[in-house]
Amino acid sequence: MSDALDRLRELQAADLPVHGGRTLAYVYDSGLAEVDRVGREAVASYPVSNGLYPTAFPSLLQMENDLVGFYAGLVDAPDTVVGTVTSGGTESCLLAVQGARDSRPDVERQRMVLPSTVHAAFLRGAHYFGVEAVVVPVRADFRADPAAMLAAVDAAPDRTVLVVVSAPSYAHGVVDPVAEIAPGAAARGIRCHVDACIGGWVLPYALRLGRDVAPWTFAVEGVTSISADLHKYGYAPKGTSLLLHRTPEHRKPQYFAYADWPGYTMLNSTMQSTKSGGPLAGAWAVLESLGDTGYELLSREVFEAVDAIVAGVADIDGLHVLVAPDSTLIALATDDSCDPFTVCDEMAARGWYVQPQMSYDAHPATIHLSVSAATRPGIDDLLVALRESVEAAVAAGPVTVDPEVAAFIAALDPAALSDADFDGLLIAAGLVGAGDRQRDLALPDRMAEVNAMLDLASPRMREALLVAFLDRLQRPTR
Ligand SMILES: Cc1ncc(COP(=O)(O)O)c(C=O)c1O
Repeated sequence: MSDALDRLRELQAADLPVHGGRTLAYVYDSGLAEVDRVGREAVASYPVSNGLYPTAFPSLLQMENDLVGFYAGLVDAPDTVVGTVTSGGTESCLLAVQGARDSRPDVERQRMVLPSTVHAAFLRGAHYFGVEAVVVPVRADFRADPAAMLAAVDAAPDRTVLVVVSAPSYAHGVVDPVAEIAPGAAARGIRCHVDACIGGWVLPYALRLGRDVAPWTFAVEGVTSISADLHKYGYAPKGTSLLLHRTPEHRKPQYFAYADWPGYTMLNSTMQSTKSGGPLAGAWAVLESLGDTGYELLSREVFEAVDAIVAGVADIDGLHVLVAPDSTLIALATDDSCDPFTVCDEMAARGWYVQPQMSYDAHPATIHLSVSAATRPGIDDLLVALRESVEAAVAAGPVTVDPEVAAFIAALDPAALSDADFDGLLIAAGLVGAGDRQRDLALPDRMAEVNAMLDLASPRMREALLVAFLDRLQRPTR
Protein backbone atom coordinates (compact mmCIF):
# COMPACT_ATOMS: atom_id res chain seq x y z
CA MET A 1 0.00 0.00 0.00
CA SER A 2 2.71 2.43 0.96
CA ASP A 3 4.28 1.78 -2.47
CA ALA A 4 1.53 3.87 -3.99
CA LEU A 5 2.35 6.77 -1.70
CA ASP A 6 6.06 6.37 -2.35
CA ARG A 7 5.38 6.52 -6.06
CA LEU A 8 3.14 9.53 -5.55
CA ARG A 9 5.93 11.35 -3.74
CA GLU A 10 8.28 10.49 -6.58
CA LEU A 11 5.87 11.98 -9.11
CA GLN A 12 5.35 15.03 -6.95
CA ALA A 13 9.07 15.71 -6.86
CA ALA A 14 8.81 17.00 -10.44
CA ASP A 15 6.39 19.76 -9.39
CA LEU A 16 7.23 23.32 -8.45
CA PRO A 17 7.73 23.83 -4.72
CA VAL A 18 4.53 24.82 -2.90
CA HIS A 19 6.34 25.88 0.26
CA GLY A 20 9.27 28.14 0.86
CA GLY A 21 7.99 31.33 -0.79
CA ARG A 22 10.04 30.85 -3.96
CA THR A 23 7.08 30.13 -6.22
CA LEU A 24 5.53 33.51 -7.00
CA ALA A 25 2.48 32.36 -8.93
CA TYR A 26 0.13 29.37 -8.70
CA VAL A 27 0.50 28.95 -4.91
CA TYR A 28 0.11 31.13 -1.84
CA ASP A 29 2.23 30.21 1.13
CA SER A 30 1.70 31.46 4.66
CA GLY A 31 5.04 29.99 5.66
CA LEU A 32 3.36 28.59 8.77
CA ALA A 33 3.92 24.84 8.87
CA GLU A 34 1.41 24.34 11.67
CA VAL A 35 -1.37 26.13 9.77
CA ASP A 36 -0.59 24.00 6.73
CA ARG A 37 -0.76 20.86 8.84
CA VAL A 38 -4.13 21.80 10.31
CA GLY A 39 -5.50 22.58 6.85
CA ARG A 40 -4.18 19.34 5.44
CA GLU A 41 -5.60 17.22 8.25
CA ALA A 42 -8.98 18.94 8.00
CA VAL A 43 -9.09 18.17 4.26
CA ALA A 44 -8.17 14.58 5.03
CA SER A 45 -11.01 14.33 7.58
CA TYR A 46 -13.71 15.08 5.01
CA PRO A 47 -12.81 13.37 1.73
CA VAL A 48 -16.04 11.43 1.41
CA SER A 49 -18.57 13.72 3.12
CA ASN A 50 -20.89 15.22 0.54
CA GLY A 51 -21.37 18.97 0.48
CA LEU A 52 -24.42 18.54 -1.74
CA TYR A 53 -26.44 17.62 1.34
CA PRO A 54 -26.24 20.26 4.08
CA THR A 55 -28.88 18.45 6.13
CA ALA A 56 -26.99 15.15 6.02
CA PHE A 57 -23.70 16.88 6.78
CA PRO A 58 -24.68 19.81 9.00
CA SER A 59 -21.07 20.35 10.03
CA LEU A 60 -20.32 21.45 6.46
CA LEU A 61 -23.24 23.88 6.51
CA GLN A 62 -22.00 25.27 9.81
CA MET A 63 -18.50 25.76 8.44
CA GLU A 64 -19.80 27.44 5.30
CA ASN A 65 -21.87 29.89 7.34
CA ASP A 66 -18.91 30.55 9.65
CA LEU A 67 -16.65 31.38 6.71
CA VAL A 68 -19.21 33.69 5.11
CA GLY A 69 -19.94 35.34 8.47
CA PHE A 70 -16.28 36.01 9.18
CA TYR A 71 -15.61 37.40 5.73
CA ALA A 72 -18.73 39.59 5.83
CA GLY A 73 -17.09 41.37 8.74
CA LEU A 74 -14.09 42.24 6.59
CA VAL A 75 -15.97 43.76 3.67
CA ASP A 76 -18.42 46.15 5.33
CA ALA A 77 -21.30 43.84 4.54
CA PRO A 78 -24.81 44.91 5.53
CA ASP A 79 -26.88 42.69 7.85
CA THR A 80 -28.68 41.34 4.81
CA VAL A 81 -25.53 39.78 3.31
CA VAL A 82 -25.52 36.10 2.32
CA GLY A 83 -22.87 33.96 0.69
CA THR A 84 -21.73 30.63 -0.62
CA VAL A 85 -18.48 28.71 -0.60
CA THR A 86 -17.56 27.66 -4.13
CA SER A 87 -14.74 25.54 -5.51
CA GLY A 88 -12.57 28.49 -6.59
CA GLY A 89 -12.39 31.90 -8.16
CA THR A 90 -13.62 30.78 -11.54
CA GLU A 91 -16.74 29.19 -10.08
CA SER A 92 -17.49 32.33 -8.06
CA CYS A 93 -17.10 34.50 -11.17
CA LEU A 94 -19.17 32.14 -13.31
CA LEU A 95 -21.95 32.17 -10.73
CA ALA A 96 -21.88 35.97 -10.62
CA VAL A 97 -22.49 35.99 -14.38
CA GLN A 98 -25.13 33.27 -14.29
CA GLY A 99 -26.93 34.92 -11.38
CA ALA A 100 -26.95 38.30 -13.12
CA ARG A 101 -28.29 36.73 -16.29
CA ASP A 102 -31.02 34.83 -14.52
CA SER A 103 -32.02 37.84 -12.45
CA ARG A 104 -33.28 39.36 -15.69
CA PRO A 105 -35.30 36.70 -17.53
CA ASP A 106 -37.22 39.55 -19.12
CA VAL A 107 -34.12 40.61 -21.09
CA GLU A 108 -33.19 39.01 -24.37
CA ARG A 109 -29.51 38.96 -25.41
CA GLN A 110 -28.13 40.06 -22.04
CA ARG A 111 -24.80 41.81 -21.99
CA MET A 112 -22.21 42.68 -19.35
CA VAL A 113 -19.57 45.39 -19.28
CA LEU A 114 -16.03 44.35 -18.35
CA PRO A 115 -12.72 46.20 -18.11
CA SER A 116 -10.11 44.72 -20.45
CA THR A 117 -8.06 43.57 -17.44
CA VAL A 118 -10.89 41.51 -15.96
CA HIS A 119 -10.08 37.86 -15.27
CA ALA A 120 -10.75 35.49 -18.16
CA ALA A 121 -13.28 33.66 -15.96
CA PHE A 122 -15.82 36.33 -16.94
CA LEU A 123 -15.24 35.71 -20.63
CA ARG A 124 -15.77 32.06 -19.92
CA GLY A 125 -19.02 33.05 -18.17
CA ALA A 126 -20.01 34.95 -21.30
CA HIS A 127 -19.27 31.84 -23.35
CA TYR A 128 -21.05 29.39 -21.06
CA PHE A 129 -24.13 31.48 -20.32
CA GLY A 130 -24.62 33.27 -23.62
CA VAL A 131 -24.10 36.73 -22.15
CA GLU A 132 -22.49 39.22 -24.53
CA ALA A 133 -19.20 40.54 -23.13
CA VAL A 134 -18.54 44.21 -23.80
CA VAL A 135 -14.85 44.71 -23.07
CA VAL A 136 -13.77 48.27 -22.32
CA PRO A 137 -10.07 49.26 -22.51
CA VAL A 138 -8.57 50.32 -19.18
CA ARG A 139 -6.96 53.74 -18.57
CA ALA A 140 -3.25 54.41 -18.95
CA ASP A 141 -2.91 53.62 -15.22
CA PHE A 142 -4.22 50.09 -15.97
CA ARG A 143 -7.44 50.72 -13.99
CA ALA A 144 -10.98 50.51 -15.37
CA ASP A 145 -12.16 53.72 -16.97
CA PRO A 146 -15.41 54.77 -15.21
CA ALA A 147 -16.63 57.10 -17.95
CA ALA A 148 -15.96 54.54 -20.66
CA MET A 149 -17.49 51.70 -18.63
CA LEU A 150 -20.69 53.65 -17.95
CA ALA A 151 -20.82 54.84 -21.56
CA ALA A 152 -20.63 51.19 -22.60
CA VAL A 153 -23.54 50.44 -20.27
CA ASP A 154 -25.49 53.33 -21.73
CA ALA A 155 -25.02 51.99 -25.24
CA ALA A 156 -27.62 49.36 -24.34
CA PRO A 157 -28.75 49.90 -20.74
CA ASP A 158 -31.86 47.75 -21.09
CA ARG A 159 -29.83 44.70 -22.07
CA THR A 160 -27.00 45.20 -19.57
CA VAL A 161 -27.30 42.92 -16.55
CA LEU A 162 -23.86 43.18 -14.98
CA VAL A 163 -20.84 45.44 -14.59
CA VAL A 164 -17.62 43.88 -13.27
CA VAL A 165 -14.60 45.48 -11.62
CA SER A 166 -11.48 43.97 -10.05
CA ALA A 167 -9.86 44.46 -6.66
CA PRO A 168 -7.21 44.04 -7.89
CA SER A 169 -6.68 42.85 -11.46
CA TYR A 170 -4.43 39.81 -11.80
CA ALA A 171 -2.16 41.15 -14.53
CA HIS A 172 -1.26 44.50 -12.98
CA GLY A 173 -2.29 44.25 -9.33
CA VAL A 174 -4.25 47.51 -9.25
CA VAL A 175 -7.72 48.14 -7.84
CA ASP A 176 -10.34 49.54 -10.21
CA PRO A 177 -12.12 52.77 -9.20
CA VAL A 178 -15.11 50.89 -7.81
CA ALA A 179 -16.62 53.98 -6.15
CA GLU A 180 -16.80 55.71 -9.54
CA ILE A 181 -18.46 52.78 -11.26
CA ALA A 182 -20.73 50.86 -8.86
CA PRO A 183 -23.00 53.83 -7.97
CA GLY A 184 -23.45 54.47 -11.70
CA ALA A 185 -24.47 50.85 -12.20
CA ALA A 186 -26.88 51.11 -9.26
CA ALA A 187 -28.41 54.27 -10.69
CA ARG A 188 -29.19 52.28 -13.82
CA GLY A 189 -30.55 49.32 -11.84
CA ILE A 190 -27.64 47.06 -12.87
CA ARG A 191 -25.65 44.65 -10.70
CA CYS A 192 -22.00 45.38 -10.01
CA HIS A 193 -19.70 42.51 -9.08
CA VAL A 194 -16.31 43.15 -7.47
CA ASP A 195 -13.87 40.41 -8.35
CA ALA A 196 -11.67 40.35 -5.27
CA CYS A 197 -10.73 36.72 -5.83
CA ILE A 198 -7.07 37.48 -5.40
CA GLY A 199 -7.16 40.60 -3.24
CA GLY A 200 -10.14 39.92 -1.04
CA TRP A 201 -8.17 38.50 1.88
CA VAL A 202 -5.39 41.10 1.94
CA LEU A 203 -6.97 44.41 1.01
CA PRO A 204 -9.08 44.71 4.19
CA TYR A 205 -5.91 44.24 6.23
CA ALA A 206 -3.94 46.59 3.98
CA LEU A 207 -6.37 49.32 4.93
CA ARG A 208 -6.07 48.42 8.60
CA LEU A 209 -2.28 48.62 8.27
CA GLY A 210 -2.64 52.19 7.07
CA ARG A 211 -2.06 51.57 3.38
CA ASP A 212 -3.84 53.50 0.71
CA VAL A 213 -6.64 51.34 -0.71
CA ALA A 214 -9.39 52.75 -2.91
CA PRO A 215 -12.86 51.73 -1.64
CA TRP A 216 -14.12 48.48 -3.12
CA THR A 217 -16.28 46.73 -0.50
CA PHE A 218 -20.03 46.69 0.20
CA ALA A 219 -19.47 50.14 1.76
CA VAL A 220 -19.55 51.38 -1.84
CA GLU A 221 -23.10 51.99 -2.97
CA GLY A 222 -24.04 49.70 -5.82
CA VAL A 223 -21.65 46.82 -5.10
CA THR A 224 -24.00 43.86 -5.25
CA SER A 225 -21.58 40.93 -4.95
CA ILE A 226 -17.96 40.18 -4.10
CA SER A 227 -15.84 37.12 -4.85
CA ALA A 228 -12.81 36.36 -2.65
CA ASP A 229 -10.78 33.17 -2.79
CA LEU A 230 -9.86 31.32 0.34
CA HIS A 231 -7.37 29.24 -1.59
CA LYS A 232 -5.32 32.31 -2.50
CA TYR A 233 -4.60 34.83 0.25
CA GLY A 234 -6.89 32.99 2.67
CA TYR A 235 -3.86 30.63 2.65
CA ALA A 236 -6.25 27.64 2.61
CA PRO A 237 -5.77 24.37 0.71
CA LYS A 238 -6.92 24.57 -2.91
CA GLY A 239 -10.60 24.33 -3.70
CA THR A 240 -12.46 27.19 -2.00
CA SER A 241 -13.66 30.68 -2.77
CA LEU A 242 -16.42 32.86 -1.37
CA LEU A 243 -19.21 34.55 -3.28
CA LEU A 244 -21.08 37.08 -1.18
CA HIS A 245 -24.28 38.87 -2.21
CA ARG A 246 -25.61 42.07 -0.73
CA THR A 247 -29.06 40.50 -0.11
CA PRO A 248 -30.74 37.08 -0.37
CA GLU A 249 -32.64 38.50 -3.34
CA HIS A 250 -29.34 38.93 -5.18
CA ARG A 251 -28.36 35.33 -4.49
CA LYS A 252 -31.70 33.74 -5.39
CA PRO A 253 -31.07 33.18 -9.13
CA GLN A 254 -27.84 31.35 -8.25
CA TYR A 255 -29.85 28.43 -6.86
CA PHE A 256 -30.80 25.60 -9.14
CA ALA A 257 -33.71 23.40 -8.11
CA TYR A 258 -35.19 20.56 -10.10
CA ALA A 259 -37.98 18.25 -8.91
CA ASP A 260 -39.32 17.05 -12.25
CA TRP A 261 -37.69 13.63 -12.27
CA PRO A 262 -38.11 10.51 -10.13
CA GLY A 263 -34.95 10.95 -8.06
CA TYR A 264 -34.10 13.33 -5.23
CA THR A 265 -35.04 16.94 -5.71
CA MET A 266 -31.91 18.54 -7.02
CA LEU A 267 -30.95 21.62 -5.09
CA ASN A 268 -27.66 23.37 -5.81
CA SER A 269 -26.13 26.63 -4.70
CA THR A 270 -22.97 25.97 -6.71
CA MET A 271 -22.10 24.44 -10.07
CA GLN A 272 -20.84 21.23 -8.56
CA SER A 273 -23.40 18.83 -7.11
CA THR A 274 -21.68 16.10 -5.15
CA LYS A 275 -18.63 17.79 -3.72
CA SER A 276 -16.01 16.81 -1.23
CA GLY A 277 -16.28 18.42 2.17
CA GLY A 278 -12.48 18.46 2.28
CA PRO A 279 -11.68 21.89 0.85
CA LEU A 280 -14.39 23.59 2.91
CA ALA A 281 -13.19 21.89 6.09
CA GLY A 282 -9.59 22.81 5.19
CA ALA A 283 -10.46 26.47 4.71
CA TRP A 284 -12.50 26.55 7.92
CA ALA A 285 -9.66 25.01 9.92
CA VAL A 286 -7.14 27.47 8.47
CA LEU A 287 -9.42 30.37 9.38
CA GLU A 288 -9.89 28.96 12.89
CA SER A 289 -6.12 28.65 13.31
CA LEU A 290 -5.19 32.03 11.91
CA GLY A 291 -8.14 34.15 12.97
CA ASP A 292 -8.23 37.86 12.40
CA THR A 293 -4.90 38.42 14.16
CA GLY A 294 -3.17 35.78 12.06
CA TYR A 295 -4.40 37.27 8.79
CA GLU A 296 -3.35 40.73 9.90
CA LEU A 297 0.12 39.44 10.73
CA LEU A 298 0.45 37.63 7.42
CA SER A 299 -0.73 40.73 5.59
CA ARG A 300 1.86 42.81 7.40
CA GLU A 301 4.52 40.34 6.27
CA VAL A 302 3.36 40.15 2.69
CA PHE A 303 3.22 43.93 2.33
CA GLU A 304 6.70 44.24 3.83
CA ALA A 305 7.81 41.85 1.10
CA VAL A 306 5.96 43.80 -1.61
CA ASP A 307 7.50 47.09 -0.48
CA ALA A 308 10.97 45.55 -0.35
CA ILE A 309 10.61 44.18 -3.88
CA VAL A 310 9.36 47.49 -5.24
CA ALA A 311 12.23 49.35 -3.55
CA GLY A 312 14.81 46.76 -4.64
CA VAL A 313 13.68 46.73 -8.27
CA ALA A 314 14.22 50.50 -8.44
CA ASP A 315 17.95 49.74 -8.07
CA ILE A 316 18.08 47.19 -10.89
CA ASP A 317 18.97 48.67 -14.25
CA GLY A 318 16.80 47.42 -17.07
CA LEU A 319 13.88 46.43 -14.83
CA HIS A 320 10.99 48.45 -13.43
CA VAL A 321 7.66 48.02 -11.71
CA LEU A 322 5.02 48.59 -14.40
CA VAL A 323 2.60 50.28 -12.01
CA ALA A 324 2.79 50.75 -8.25
CA PRO A 325 0.92 47.76 -6.82
CA ASP A 326 -2.24 48.35 -4.76
CA SER A 327 -2.09 44.84 -3.39
CA THR A 328 0.29 41.88 -3.35
CA LEU A 329 0.76 41.36 -7.08
CA ILE A 330 3.65 42.98 -8.94
CA ALA A 331 4.06 43.29 -12.69
CA LEU A 332 7.68 43.89 -13.69
CA ALA A 333 8.62 45.23 -17.09
CA THR A 334 12.00 45.37 -18.76
CA ASP A 335 13.53 48.01 -20.98
CA ASP A 336 14.85 47.24 -24.46
CA SER A 337 18.15 45.95 -23.09
CA CYS A 338 16.59 42.82 -21.74
CA ASP A 339 13.95 40.25 -22.57
CA PRO A 340 11.36 39.55 -19.82
CA PHE A 341 10.93 35.92 -20.82
CA THR A 342 14.66 35.31 -20.47
CA VAL A 343 14.52 36.89 -17.02
CA CYS A 344 11.82 34.34 -16.08
CA ASP A 345 14.05 31.48 -17.28
CA GLU A 346 17.03 32.87 -15.41
CA MET A 347 14.96 33.17 -12.25
CA ALA A 348 13.88 29.54 -12.60
CA ALA A 349 17.51 28.52 -13.03
CA ARG A 350 18.13 30.18 -9.65
CA GLY A 351 15.19 28.40 -8.00
CA TRP A 352 12.69 31.29 -8.15
CA TYR A 353 9.51 30.73 -10.13
CA VAL A 354 7.82 33.77 -11.63
CA GLN A 355 5.20 33.92 -14.34
CA PRO A 356 5.63 35.39 -17.82
CA GLN A 357 2.73 37.51 -19.04
CA MET A 358 2.43 38.10 -22.79
CA SER A 359 2.08 41.55 -24.29
CA TYR A 360 -1.50 42.59 -24.89
CA ASP A 361 -2.76 45.54 -26.84
CA ALA A 362 -0.57 48.46 -25.75
CA HIS A 363 0.53 46.62 -22.58
CA PRO A 364 4.07 45.23 -22.71
CA ALA A 365 5.02 41.69 -21.78
CA THR A 366 5.66 41.52 -18.04
CA ILE A 367 6.90 39.29 -15.26
CA HIS A 368 4.19 38.49 -12.73
CA LEU A 369 4.87 38.04 -9.04
CA SER A 370 2.13 36.96 -6.62
CA VAL A 371 3.96 37.67 -3.40
CA SER A 372 3.22 35.47 -0.37
CA ALA A 373 3.95 36.00 3.31
CA ALA A 374 6.46 33.15 3.06
CA THR A 375 8.50 35.14 0.55
CA ARG A 376 9.41 37.85 3.06
CA PRO A 377 12.34 36.09 4.79
CA GLY A 378 13.93 35.42 1.39
CA ILE A 379 13.56 38.91 -0.04
CA ASP A 380 17.28 39.66 -0.12
CA ASP A 381 17.94 36.44 -2.04
CA LEU A 382 15.04 37.18 -4.36
CA LEU A 383 16.47 40.59 -5.21
CA VAL A 384 19.94 39.13 -5.80
CA ALA A 385 18.38 36.54 -8.12
CA LEU A 386 16.43 39.24 -9.96
CA ARG A 387 19.51 41.41 -10.44
CA GLU A 388 21.57 38.45 -11.67
CA SER A 389 18.75 37.31 -13.94
CA VAL A 390 18.42 40.71 -15.55
CA GLU A 391 22.21 40.89 -16.03
CA ALA A 392 22.17 37.45 -17.63
CA ALA A 393 19.25 38.42 -19.86
CA VAL A 394 21.04 41.60 -20.97
CA ALA A 395 24.17 39.56 -21.72
CA ALA A 396 22.14 36.98 -23.66
CA GLY A 397 20.63 39.67 -25.85
CA PRO A 398 17.15 39.77 -27.31
CA VAL A 399 15.27 36.56 -27.95
CA THR A 400 14.61 36.29 -31.61
CA VAL A 401 12.01 34.14 -33.23
CA ASP A 402 13.30 32.41 -36.35
CA PRO A 403 11.73 34.39 -39.24
CA GLU A 404 10.64 31.10 -40.81
CA VAL A 405 8.76 30.16 -37.64
CA ALA A 406 7.24 33.64 -37.44
CA ALA A 407 6.12 33.34 -41.06
CA PHE A 408 4.74 29.87 -40.39
CA ILE A 409 2.63 31.20 -37.50
CA ALA A 410 1.49 34.22 -39.49
CA ALA A 411 0.23 31.93 -42.24
CA LEU A 412 -1.84 29.77 -39.87
CA ASP A 413 -5.55 30.30 -39.32
CA PRO A 414 -6.34 29.94 -35.61
CA ALA A 415 -9.91 28.89 -36.35
CA ALA A 416 -8.70 25.98 -38.46
CA LEU A 417 -5.44 24.96 -36.77
CA SER A 418 -5.01 21.29 -37.59
CA ASP A 419 -2.89 18.59 -35.98
CA ALA A 420 -0.64 18.70 -39.03
CA ASP A 421 -0.21 22.48 -38.69
CA PHE A 422 0.73 22.06 -35.06
CA ASP A 423 3.17 19.28 -35.88
CA GLY A 424 4.71 21.49 -38.53
CA LEU A 425 5.13 24.29 -36.04
CA LEU A 426 6.68 22.02 -33.43
CA ILE A 427 9.18 20.81 -35.99
CA ALA A 428 9.88 24.31 -37.34
CA ALA A 429 10.43 25.54 -33.78
CA GLY A 430 12.72 22.60 -33.04
CA LEU A 431 10.51 21.35 -30.21
CA VAL A 432 10.32 17.87 -31.70
CA GLY A 433 12.39 16.14 -34.32
CA ALA A 434 10.88 15.56 -37.77
CA GLY A 435 11.21 11.81 -37.25
CA ASP A 436 9.41 11.67 -33.89
CA ARG A 437 6.29 9.63 -34.41
CA GLN A 438 4.75 10.19 -31.02
CA ARG A 439 5.23 13.94 -31.09
CA ASP A 440 5.87 13.62 -27.38
CA LEU A 441 6.54 17.07 -26.14
CA ALA A 442 9.53 17.43 -23.94
CA LEU A 443 9.40 21.02 -22.87
CA PRO A 444 12.76 22.75 -23.05
CA ASP A 445 14.23 23.90 -19.75
CA ARG A 446 14.30 27.40 -21.13
CA MET A 447 11.00 28.73 -22.36
CA ALA A 448 12.01 32.20 -23.60
CA GLU A 449 11.98 31.22 -27.28
CA VAL A 450 8.60 29.52 -26.96
CA ASN A 451 7.18 32.49 -25.06
CA ALA A 452 8.61 34.93 -27.60
CA MET A 453 6.94 32.91 -30.32
CA LEU A 454 3.60 33.00 -28.51
CA ASP A 455 4.06 36.69 -27.86
CA LEU A 456 4.23 37.28 -31.60
CA ALA A 457 0.97 35.46 -32.18
CA SER A 458 -2.44 37.11 -31.97
CA PRO A 459 -4.55 36.30 -28.89
CA ARG A 460 -6.72 33.94 -31.00
CA MET A 461 -3.61 32.20 -32.31
CA ARG A 462 -2.13 31.89 -28.81
CA GLU A 463 -5.35 30.27 -27.66
CA ALA A 464 -5.36 27.84 -30.56
CA LEU A 465 -1.68 26.94 -30.08
CA LEU A 466 -2.03 26.41 -26.35
CA VAL A 467 -5.16 24.31 -26.78
CA ALA A 468 -3.27 22.15 -29.28
CA PHE A 469 -0.39 21.98 -26.82
CA LEU A 470 -2.59 20.93 -23.89
CA ASP A 471 -4.30 18.39 -26.09
CA ARG A 472 -0.88 16.82 -26.70
CA LEU A 473 -0.09 16.78 -23.01
CA GLN A 474 -3.37 15.19 -22.01
CA ARG A 475 -2.88 11.80 -23.59
CA PRO A 476 -3.52 8.53 -21.77
CA THR A 477 -0.55 6.76 -20.25
CA ARG A 478 0.01 3.57 -22.24
C1 LIG B 1 -8.87 38.40 -10.10
C2 LIG B 1 -9.07 36.94 -10.30
N1 LIG B 1 -10.30 36.46 -10.53
C3 LIG B 1 -10.53 35.16 -10.72
C4 LIG B 1 -9.51 34.24 -10.69
C5 LIG B 1 -9.79 32.79 -10.95
O1 LIG B 1 -9.51 32.02 -9.83
P1 LIG B 1 -9.28 30.44 -9.87
O2 LIG B 1 -7.99 30.21 -10.57
O3 LIG B 1 -9.26 30.09 -8.42
O4 LIG B 1 -10.42 29.81 -10.58
C6 LIG B 1 -8.21 34.69 -10.45
C7 LIG B 1 -7.07 33.76 -10.45
O5 LIG B 1 -5.94 34.11 -10.31
C8 LIG B 1 -7.98 36.07 -10.25
O6 LIG B 1 -6.75 36.56 -10.04
